[in-house]
Amino acid sequence: MINNMKIVVIGGSGLIGTKLVNNLRQHGHEVVAASPSSGVNTLTGEGLAEALAGAQVVVDVANSPSWDDKAVLEFFETSGRNLLTAEAAAGVGHHIALSVVGTDRLLASGYFRAKMAQENLIKSSPVPYTIVRATQFFEFVGGIAQSATEGATVRLPSALMQPIVSDDVAAALADVAIAEPLNDTVELAGPEPIRMDEFVRRFLEANGDSRKVIPDAHALYYGIKVNDQSLTPGDHPRLGPTRFEDWLSHSTPQR
Ligand SMILES: NC(=O)c1ccc[n+]([C@@H]2O[C@H](COP(=O)([O-])OP(=O)(O)OC[C@H]3O[C@@H](n4cnc5c(N)ncnc54)[C@H](OP(=O)(O)O)[C@@H]3O)[C@@H](O)[C@H]2O)c1
Repeated sequence: MINNMKIVVIGGSGLIGTKLVNNLRQHGHEVVAASPSSGVNTLTGEGLAEALAGAQVVVDVANSPSWDDKAVLEFFETSGRNLLTAEAAAGVGHHIALSVVGTDRLLASGYFRAKMAQENLIKSSPVPYTIVRATQFFEFVGGIAQSATEGATVRLPSALMQPIVSDDVAAALADVAIAEPLNDTVELAGPEPIRMDEFVRRFLEANGDSRKVIPDAHALYYGIKVNDQSLTPGDHPRLGPTRFEDWLSHSTPQR
């Protein structure tokens, strides 16, 4: 581990980015929180060379503002190219990107085709890298419910998941950022598996939300079919310690 590195967090104002920036600063590193709101845009290249000057490490936790098939592919391809080219020019020694467990199994979705393109650009770039594939964040559960809501019902497949809290993702990324590049992909998951319908049902119940969750083998997850293998990690994921029940009891109104 090296002390006092200059680390650039692309997407440093986002859910994961904010936590990662704080975590790395607390460990004494010089951290640049880079995003369009601070004048750094990976899609246009604006501010990129200035932000990267003298940086040893870049962590990319940006996300596309639009999840439209075309827009999201354009975002991850163009941003990825601009960023890796700028990193190579600046002599960055480690590129870390946050991707999603199962990306290669979810290519029926435009979002995951874009994440796959992001990963492939990283692997073919000369910059040493570590790709961290995480499972769904606990904070994403409301979005899953919303995406599957029709009136007062939420129809979802009962596929297995192993979601993780965003704080544990940020902590794991901070460890990866100060370690040597692996030139490989690592997986990150929460401490316990849960079925998708149960994940959403518990969240809605804890929030006093009366929508009814109906498990449906034919229901789609963001437009694609998923099974018990689609979203769950392989044999040796790194595990975040926070349990869903504990997060729910701290993050939802107590009745
Ligand atoms: N949601 C999940 O369950 C999940 C699971 C596994 C992996 N992931 C991955 O985690 C990553 C981060 O997700 P998140 O939820 O933390 O994202 P988020 O909260 O939506 O934040 C997105 C960040 O990207 C920045 N950004 C947008 N356009 C940009 C551009 N042109 N140039 C530079 N930065 C730009 C935003 O900056 P501004 O604030 O300035 O707009 C913001 O800081 C994503 O890559 C996602 O694929 C998500």
